[in-house]
Amino acid sequence: MDGLFETANRVLPGGHFGNMAGPTIVSGAGAHVTDTEGREYIDFLLGSGPMFIGHAHPAVTAAVMEQVPLGTTFFANNPAGIRLAEVIVNALPCADQVRFVSSGSEADMYAMRVARAFRGREKILKFEGGYHGMSDHGLMSLAPKREANFPRAIPDSAGIPAHIADDMLVAPYNDIDAAVALIEAHHDELGGVIVEPFQRLIPPKPGFLFELRAATEKHGIPLIFDEIVTGFRFAYGGAQTYYGVTPDICTLGKIIGGGFPLAAIAGRLDIMAHFDRARVAEDRWLMQVGTLSGNPVASAAGLATLEVLRQPGAYDGVFARGLTLMQGLTAAIKAAGIPAQVVGEPVLFDVVYASGEIANYRDTQRSNIAMQAHVNRHLRAAGILKGDGKYYMSLAHTDDDIAATLEAFSDALRSLPA
Ligand SMILES: Cc1ncc(COP(=O)(O)O)c(C=O)c1O
Repeated sequence: MDGLFETANRVLPGGHFGNMAGPTIVSGAGAHVTDTEGREYIDFLLGSGPMFIGHAHPAVTAAVMEQVPLGTTFFANNPAGIRLAEVIVNALPCADQVRFVSSGSEADMYAMRVARAFRGREKILKFEGGYHGMSDHGLMSLAPKREANFPRAIPDSAGIPAHIADDMLVAPYNDIDAAVALIEAHHDELGGVIVEPFQRLIPPKPGFLFELRAATEKHGIPLIFDEIVTGFRFAYGGAQTYYGVTPDICTLGKIIGGGFPLAAIAGRLDIMAHFDRARVAEDRWLMQVGTLSGNPVASAAGLATLEVLRQPGAYDGVFARGLTLMQGLTAAIKAAGIPAQVVGEPVLFDVVYASGEIANYRDTQRSNIAMQAHVNRHLRAAGILKGDGKYYMSLAHTDDDIAATLEAFSDALRSLPA
């Protein structure tokens, strides 16, 4: 595909879409993708998570091909979108109702807004290193370059008005005492608490989510689980089912759109009421529209994906193969004698190149970035595509894919400079 690279550099800032600046991908099938040079990769990037059942799954393709000739967007209710909302309500403990949007960033922005509208208070508590999309409020202390004193929020981007930081409180993830102290001190100002139940790569410590739930419930503060990544991945019922803690609101994206742009806010009836002008006072109502919200093609793809995930044993294979990969990586690290460890859960994990406990964002900052970059480069050259800091597992990865990945990883460690 002559000239594509040059064209990309000319017409796209940085030469890319803002996502991974890697190979240009032309096709995907199952757990493999192929680039413009005809190189095939074992894919652990998975479109940054949505392709949990694999690329171009026949059931999803068939559902999309059935919908497309019927029309692709209406800005009105459509059967697939209504059915998808029902499936989500049936799957997730916190979900009485669903409002669709098109991206996870939007979902998180509205989740924080609806919590504020419900509570009539303005501040949001989040956890350092937690990712809640690209809105002004979402982009606070996601990846701070300097260690501010908690609860001070640090903007991650240029262009965010300085006063937004005053609306956010930041706590260290997995430190329940710090979070509870902030909630107790600020409960009168708090509109909500937002958390990734599994933050980036880091599982919650036993009791962390449970106690966060108790502390927010005590003051009637909505607890938002950002399940954009974990929804339908950690379990059919999401991380709230996997970890056994039910929030008031959750946000969903990635898997529920089956590879198309679709995301959602789902939550308790009395909170979701704020999206309904008929159910709340005018000054408590949330104006919310989106041209493509509940898009029928995306909804059809999401419905087909979730149907595959409802098959008995759907999660068993992916958890088993993920565990095999985690254990294999751990064994290779041990054999190489490097200070590194595998962090995560069997469906989403990576190697952190540091020893000692990895329980929060600051712990992850101890990771040896040069070593991580070396290994990722080596893996890419060996035909393994992954994000800088994640292995996303899919139902389509095979034992052979895992074996090839482990071989490439051991080679990568052997090639590390002494
Ligand atoms: C936890 C979490 N929240 C929100 C988002 C934003 O979603 P989107 O990229 O669809 O805007 C992401 C994206 O990766 C995410 O991982």
